[in-house]
Amino acid sequence: MQLRTTLAALVLGIAAFTVQAADPIIIKFSHVVAPNTPKGKAAEYFKQLAEERTKGAVKVEVYPNSQLYKDREEVEALQLGAVQMLAPSLSKFGPLGVRAFELFDLPYIFPNKETLYRVMDGDIGKSLFKMLEDKGIIGLAYWDNGFKQMSANRPVRKVEDFKGLKMRIQSSKVLEAQMRALGANPQVMAFSEVYSALQQGVVDGTENPMSNLYTKKMHEVQKHLTISDHGYLGYAVIVNKNFWDGLPANIRAILEQAMQEATEYERGISQQDNDDALAKVKAAGTTDVYVLPLQDRLAWHKAMLPVHKEFEDKIGRDLIQATYRAAQQVQKARGSGR
Ligand code: LMR
Repeated sequence: MQLRTTLAALVLGIAAFTVQAADPIIIKFSHVVAPNTPKGKAAEYFKQLAEERTKGAVKVEVYPNSQLYKDREEVEALQLGAVQMLAPSLSKFGPLGVRAFELFDLPYIFPNKETLYRVMDGDIGKSLFKMLEDKGIIGLAYWDNGFKQMSANRPVRKVEDFKGLKMRIQSSKVLEAQMRALGANPQVMAFSEVYSALQQGVVDGTENPMSNLYTKKMHEVQKHLTISDHGYLGYAVIVNKNFWDGLPANIRAILEQAMQEATEYERGISQQDNDDALAKVKAAGTTDVYVLPLQDRLAWHKAMLPVHKEFEDKIGRDLIQATYRAAQQVQKARGSGR
């Protein structure tokens, strides 16, 4: 009798174990942009790699377009464990209390992508990720979107053109200061609300890389666009620390590899996606596209540069100086043909 009970318990135990082992680990990956953007496509690519390579032990559910959460809520949801993975723009970490990420928002700080990658992939990028850990967050990778362009319902060519314009910005103090330096009136707003705010005239203009502008149809409600490349927009792919640390080590290793490959893919498509989006905006014929000439670029630069100094204390003088040095190193390497 006792043997039979023991056997039955054993069988039940095995059955329970099998059910448990078959239950996939769910990663909810929430983001705010359209699926056909560099971030949207890379999230899908990561899902594909992660699911294939773990043979279904991990299931990644991607929720684009702020379907689950808007900008600010998504970070809170990650900390609470309601979602496991996000890729917020680097401009959205200030409200978490990690202001150093606003380094990436400083106008004209990256003369080219090479400098940007040196900063992201080097000591600065690592030190920024370290700052997230006591917020219950782990940084896995930096993804790219590209340089931002200005759009508005009136031409924005000279610095004076910004005077009094209401410009939507992300939740970054540096972006606020940048708009003020131009004489504009910055308004923080979630990404999901920008189209209707532009349509209804709640704001007059905004800044974003072309892929975001086009996929959210902002060109339909913006008559003027200036190709200015005045600032940068990138992402940090982040996970809930408890969730990540609690994964079986073999699964975590597979996911890390998948993330590395998704990152290479993402960085490889971002420029082309933005170029394609610009071509589509031009073809749509709704928006006058103006390329800022060098002379005006210098004038914008002069107007915005004081923002670097203003934020030395908040961001860290050392980080800003190290970024300048990275730019010089790239310049020097290019000069010597390396
Ligand atoms: C924005 O809010 O403008 C961007 O951060 C959206 C995004 O994630 O690219």
